Amino acid sequence: MRGLSRSRSLREIFDRNEGRLIHKCDHYFEIYERHFARFRGRAPRILEIGVFHGGSLEMWRTYFGRGTHVVGVDIEPRCATLAGRGIDIRIGDQGDAAFLRRVAEEDGPFDIVIEDGSHLPEHQILAFAELWPSVNDGGVLLVEDLCTNYWPEYGGRRGGEGMFMEFVKPLVDEINGFNSRTDDFEPTDFTRTCTGMHVYDSVVVFDRGDHRPLNTSMTGRPSFGTVDELEPHHVAAIEAMNRPMRRVRRAMRSPVRTAEKVANRLRRTALGVLRRRGSSPS
Ligand SMILES: C[S@@+](CC[C@H](N)C(=O)[O-])C[C@H]1O[C@@H](n2cnc3c(N)ncnc32)[C@H](O)[C@@H]1O
Repeated sequence: MRGLSRSRSLREIFDRNEGRLIHKCDHYFEIYERHFARFRGRAPRILEIGVFHGGSLEMWRTYFGRGTHVVGVDIEPRCATLAGRGIDIRIGDQGDAAFLRRVAEEDGPFDIVIEDGSHLPEHQILAFAELWPSVNDGGVLLVEDLCTNYWPEYGGRRGGEGMFMEFVKPLVDEINGFNSRTDDFEPTDFTRTCTGMHVYDSVVVFDRGDHRPLNTSMTGRPSFGTVDELEPHHVAAIEAMNRPMRRVRRAMRSPVRTAEKVANRLRRTALGVLRRRGSSPS
């Protein structure tokens, strides 16, 4: 893969690969470009679960450029031989929460985490739980091959308990936690640390960052009447948006809990699902 220009798209790098095997779905490349391009030339630190023959780890190095560091995780011991310049390999089972925690502690934090390992829905949840706290502010966590959540051979079933996609759905509410007007719905650490969620066919991307309650402003001149004559419902909406409720102010006063505490909450959720499904994680 040496000699490829940094200006090449990921797709071009993939298509011209004559080195180690890489296995990706065609439509992933557009998603990668959309979410990863800003890290090019910035020596990102990347974790990919699922090494396979090592080609994707080299592809990331080529795409992101000098100084990029990639950590690959795989259960297959032979993958250890694929370590090289800027590429470290950790051998272990992604269904082992303690192992993932060790990787996060020893190799993190990361700018980009790509989950492309066993494709078992319960492992996808566990990987998110363990690794979300080790994503840097401004970083992304991408889970791919979520098609398995719909495939019986992977224990997948639309709407089934323990599916990663079922885990994602309530997070769509949780990212809106600052907008709650009822006591049964509070902003959480996920609300405060996730600035975006992007759902695609078989892929979900999470943006990590300092998420704040809504604030709005207006610029320009009114097209009808004066600013003072704005419709009352419009004025009320602006006031409501810029006046965080008590529960939001309270949540914002406490510091975002330590990564460990956030992980604990997510881990409890993930492990609860695993237990109910009869799997036995470490
Ligand atoms: C789809 S391949 C990875 C493809 C690679 N990322 C690429 O883009 O070319 C999945 C990999 O996950 C590994 N794997 C399967 N189960 C695993 C587990 N429980 N923990 C860690 N790795 C696992 C397999 O050994 C395999 O190498």
